[in-house]
Amino acid sequence: MRILFIGDIVGKGGRQAVRQLVRDLLREYRCEFCVANGENMAGGGGFTKSCLLELEGSGVDVFTSGDHVWDRKEFPDEIESLGNVLRPANYSPSQPGRGHGVFEASNGVKVGVVSLVGRVFMAQPSDCPFAAADRAMDELLPVTPVVVVDFHAEATSEKIAMGRYLSGRATAVLGTHTHVATADEQVFKGGTAFQCDVGMVGARESVLGREIEPVLQRFVTGMPSRFEVNDAGIRLNGTVVELDAATGRAVGIERVARDLP
Ligand SMILES: [Fe+2]
Ligand SMILES: [Fe+2]
Repeated sequence: MRILFIGDIVGKGGRQAVRQLVRDLLREYRCEFCVANGENMAGGGGFTKSCLLELEGSGVDVFTSGDHVWDRKEFPDEIESLGNVLRPANYSPSQPGRGHGVFEASNGVKVGVVSLVGRVFMAQPSDCPFAAADRAMDELLPVTPVVVVDFHAEATSEKIAMGRYLSGRATAVLGTHTHVATADEQVFKGGTAFQCDVGMVGARESVLGREIEPVLQRFVTGMPSRFEVNDAGIRLNGTVVELDAATGRAVGIERVARDLP
């Protein structure tokens, strides 16, 4: 079977691209399941229930998240009622929501999904992602051998380390957060598909999905400026993982990119 994984969805343009492109991609690549990182979907930061409702029927089965998960103040009250949104598993256990779950693909196969954040160069403190990954795998693997991990982190070294740590246990360890797709996709010997970063669903004419000028201003002058999302000229970055559903082992990984016409 195949699973499509989509990088950080940024703002209104990102949501529009998901609505318009994902169904076709799922058909084209014959994917039975789709995970997307949604942490920037609401105006560039966080989630809202209405944004998620907009994406109902888009083809995305599960939304993972990251450091921006709580950017919208209403979302902590909403997440519990949304069955398919994961907050980072290695945030405090006192936080609302859950960090992993088992979902069903269109072919009936159970798919475990885990959302984790890194600790290197990340502003938000979090618990150890490796220990959290162990706990999640211990719960998920007795239920299904197919487990997809979103490791939302900045440092390529930490991401590769997580991929190697879960090699032979996870079907795929795919990175998000930098909004820039990396060209290092491979299947490790243990049958784990890996890519440091899947990229984003955001504007090509941008800095990580934001308008270029204010970001330049901040870098050049050091003065604060508001970073507006650029909603035009969207590219969707994703990755398709091919796997043996009986064993959970990945057999292939392929990057995909599609521009919103
Ligand atoms: Fe992001
Ligand atoms: Fe992030």
